[in-house]
Amino acid sequence: MLSPKIQAAINAQLNLELESSYAYLGIAAFFEATAMPGMAKWMRVQSEEEHTHAMRLFDHIHARGGAVVLQPIEKPATKFKTALAAFEASLGHERKVTSAINKLYALAQAEQDYPSQVMLQWFINEQVEEERNVGTVIDQLRMAGDSPSALLMLDQMLGSRTEGPEGNPQE
Ligand code: FEO
Repeated sequence: MLSPKIQAAINAQLNLELESSYAYLGIAAFFEATAMPGMAKWMRVQSEEEHTHAMRLFDHIHARGGAVVLQPIEKPATKFKTALAAFEASLGHERKVTSAINKLYALAQAEQDYPSQVMLQWFINEQVEEERNVGTVIDQLRMAGDSPSALLMLDQMLGSRTEGPEGNPQE
């Protein structure tokens, strides 16, 4: 059985993962509108992956006899100055998620909720991957600078992403 505190905190995390999915969809829309189909694809895959993260929490709540409470999701941004600014926004979002996961894990420890701790360990590893993946793209965008040919090459490379860590091969 989930304690009321843990149930509320996992529901809040579920909302944050859905917000992440929506945020990435907003960034995908930006890239679609700016002729960067590869970056749009990368963001779209990431958006789908965030939905699977939300569903892990959804399933955990039900598996523990708890109740899912769905809250409104914040409106995402769909306009950015540059591709770099869009990826930097992603990294900022991932850092927020990492901090929330760490707090949730600390709460699960305080509440002696061992199954939630095990479930959250997957998220802790995942956040390391996610911050690294976005950080790598940011480094590459910085290297590309204002060079259209470098940006187009990077766009093509990022468009080869088919699935993220959840379904691998990028794990
Ligand atoms: Fe599910 Fe990117 O945090």
